[in-house]
Amino acid sequence: MTDWRQTALDDLSDRMPRVRAVEELLTGSLIREDTDLDNALEATRSAGLPEYEVSPLEGKLLNLLARAVGAKRILEVGTLGGYSTLWLAKALPPDGELVTLELHQERADVARRNLERAGFADRVDVLVGPATDSLADMRRTRGREFDFAFVDADKDNDVNYAQACLALCRPGALIVVDNMIRFGNVLDPGATPDPGAPGTRKLIDHLATEQRLEATALQTVSARGWDGPALLLVRE
Ligand SMILES: C[S@@+](CC[C@H](N)C(=O)[O-])C[C@H]1O[C@@H](n2cnc3c(N)ncnc32)[C@H](O)[C@@H]1O
Repeated sequence: MTDWRQTALDDLSDRMPRVRAVEELLTGSLIREDTDLDNALEATRSAGLPEYEVSPLEGKLLNLLARAVGAKRILEVGTLGGYSTLWLAKALPPDGELVTLELHQERADVARRNLERAGFADRVDVLVGPATDSLADMRRTRGREFDFAFVDADKDNDVNYAQACLALCRPGALIVVDNMIRFGNVLDPGATPDPGAPGTRKLIDHLATEQRLEATALQTVSARGWDGPALLLVRE
């Protein structure tokens, strides 16, 4: 590694104000005004839900990826107040469908209201309960119908979610999994207080041998710190 790269890495914490400034520049330049999304975020805050949603730039990435694969059916694991759900719903054609899974009833209620206000109630189903149960039900009743999936829930189940998405997504579908880097905690998952690190590391190890998925993952720095998504292409 060149010296300047090492210095830049060492400086990361000092540079967070600059990282945030770049995020503001990009968000201000690339994310268009959208009252549906703004209202959803505001309602999510007013309901006291945790601030775990994707950033506007990440939301738009999901929207662009779903549009790029021509997604007509989208599956999401981890709804919260429906902010990422709304970004994804906006990628659907008028006859499209989105199923999103959330453990907590009160979060699902906030998401439903947000989606209804934005005019997507007819295209989006919010299923409440442990996602492993909802996915098991879906596997009994549905085939490989989904074109795009976004996984953003409890990391302990990431391998289960990847397998369920594989069973429900068509060949050529894209699966995005959030939070793959966790500030580097995936390197030593047992030695960190980060509760998500062991599950994420298990997913990385699983992907190393899962031949039916073609995977990559990115380390990103943003206002949220050091993290990044995985992209999994369903091969067969
Ligand atoms: C990071 S938040 C999702 C944020 C959302 N994707 C967004 O960007 O707006 C994770 C969500 O997963 C939900 N969750 C956690 N464990 C779950 C489980 N076992 N089944 C379903 N949902 C779960 C949490 O309640 C939380 O609302």
